[in-house]
Amino acid sequence: MKIVGVTEFGGPEALQVLEVPEPHPGPGEVRIRVHAAAVNPTDTMLREGLQGTGGKQAPHIPGMDAAGVIDEVGEGSRWSVGEEVMAIAVPRGEHRGAYVQYLIAPDESLAPIPAGTDLPTAATLPMNGLTAVQILEKLDLSPGQVLAVNGAAGTLGNYLVQLAKLAGLTVVADAADKDRELVAELGPDHIVERGDDFGRRVRELFPDGVDAVADAAVQNEAAAEAVRDGGGFATVRGWKGDPGRGITVHPIWVGEEYRSQEKLDRLRALAEDGTLTLRVAGTYPAEEAAEAHRRLEAGGTRGRLVLLF
Ligand SMILES: NC(=O)c1ccc[n+]([C@@H]2O[C@H](COP(=O)([O-])OP(=O)(O)OC[C@H]3O[C@@H](n4cnc5c(N)ncnc54)[C@H](OP(=O)(O)O)[C@@H]3O)[C@@H](O)[C@H]2O)c1
Repeated sequence: MKIVGVTEFGGPEALQVLEVPEPHPGPGEVRIRVHAAAVNPTDTMLREGLQGTGGKQAPHIPGMDAAGVIDEVGEGSRWSVGEEVMAIAVPRGEHRGAYVQYLIAPDESLAPIPAGTDLPTAATLPMNGLTAVQILEKLDLSPGQVLAVNGAAGTLGNYLVQLAKLAGLTVVADAADKDRELVAELGPDHIVERGDDFGRRVRELFPDGVDAVADAAVQNEAAAEAVRDGGGFATVRGWKGDPGRGITVHPIWVGEEYRSQEKLDRLRALAEDGTLTLRVAGTYPAEEAAEAHRRLEAGGTRGRLVLLF
């Protein structure tokens, strides 16, 4: 089968189209004929070798989001051949990444695609949707409490703002002038200008600080400044700092959601009823993965880039 992977870590040009043997599903697993794999920031880190080899041999295969059609089922699987599904993949795990023609996926790692969406659009939901769910679970806020989200114009920020509003939270989101309309459509209660002084701007609205910050823009200290004494801070890139003031730092790892089928299916339903907005910025043939990585790394992409297999 065709995959896009790296044999030597490096820049976008390190991504190669390679042939590897076709996999087959074991018990409780399916094989997905992948049609669409989203391109996420973490894929560029894997490509560069910043996540190590995970004890795996090359080729290393990026991709944490797939959508496609089940074409084989393992013994005892509850899924059927022909179903259109979306799945989370874990590149350092047993079944590797999603930049593949055929992905082996445990039953619990997939859900039907949202009705009314196509496969590339569905591929933008699993990994970042599950991350947003995990952030909200770990911050454990009650309705009426205040959450500030930076990087709100990004894919994770998109889902976070919408899920936080659904949970009854008061939401502060950041936006650059050019993204203000897009972010406003997500429904936050307040928008602050994007920038290094995120903490100060949030405190202009909430002088004692907010109950929690979800740091999707990875601003670390500058974002933690917005949190009230004793509040919560979700770090998505393993920040090891200590903001002090009794603030709890919650490390977020979406790999823990590999078998969170119920959560993924709930995300499906929320995309179907319009609570979640799914955005595709553009599609690329798998052969042009390097170009998609270059575009993502240039910054400013709104919506997800998706590779077609
Ligand atoms: N730990 C986990 O399990 C996990 C899971 C999912 C995602 N993540 C991480 O979460 C982050 C967000 O993911 P994503 O897919 O939403 O990325 P994305 O779509 O690229 O969005 C990131 C957003 O943050 C903005 N931004 C970047 N640097 C900024 C800064 N210094 N100040 C203000 N805004 C800034 C970006 O703007 P520009 O485009 O203009 O730069 C973009 O709007 C990434 O770092 C990703 O790796 C972690």
